[in-house]
Amino acid sequence: ADPDSLQDFCVADLNASISINGFPCIPASKVSASDFFFDLSKEGITNTSNLNLSVTPANVLSFPALNTLGIAMNRVDYGPGGLNPPHSHPRATEMGLVIKGRILVGFVLTPGEIFVIPRGLVHFQKNVGKGKGTVFTSFNSHMPGVVILSTTLFGSQPPMPNEVLTQAFQVDDAIVNSIKSKFGS
Ligand code: GLV
Ligand code: MN
Repeated sequence: ADPDSLQDFCVADLNASISINGFPCIPASKVSASDFFFDLSKEGITNTSNLNLSVTPANVLSFPALNTLGIAMNRVDYGPGGLNPPHSHPRATEMGLVIKGRILVGFVLTPGEIFVIPRGLVHFQKNVGKGKGTVFTSFNSHMPGVVILSTTLFGSQPPMPNEVLTQAFQVDDAIVNSIKSKFGS
């Protein structure tokens, strides 16, 4: 979903002092072959939250050679029962390849199977297998962006007013406060 690029490559200068829609390029003379390599071979540590999940992004911020190329990937590792919570990507369609586990994305996928999520639509993945799970996802943007519904609605700063959340979800203040307390708002 990113615009077409006007040059072969434009390795991002993440420290540039100007701010534009995207990143300026480092000088071509400073670009080397290794800039075009990124290692996603390492399994992420999944047991750091109740989600039992680790997302390792290869987007323009971690892999600056992607700048202007309209493409990115994530490595997503799941412990048993691990959940990638409902979220959307404002700038990219996502396609995912299951490498390990039994992954629920609405239907259950096993290794070698792929899924596609149209740009902007809310989606999740849950590892419903007994062991670990791994999915590699790819995106048609160098910076897909992510909006996680739970943290956006219940953990924003400034907080979303309770009167909005109680009316929207048809629950009382106690329930909203309880959920907010889990997301630090
Ligand atoms: C999976 O949904 C991902 O965004 O990597
Ligand atoms: Mn996603």
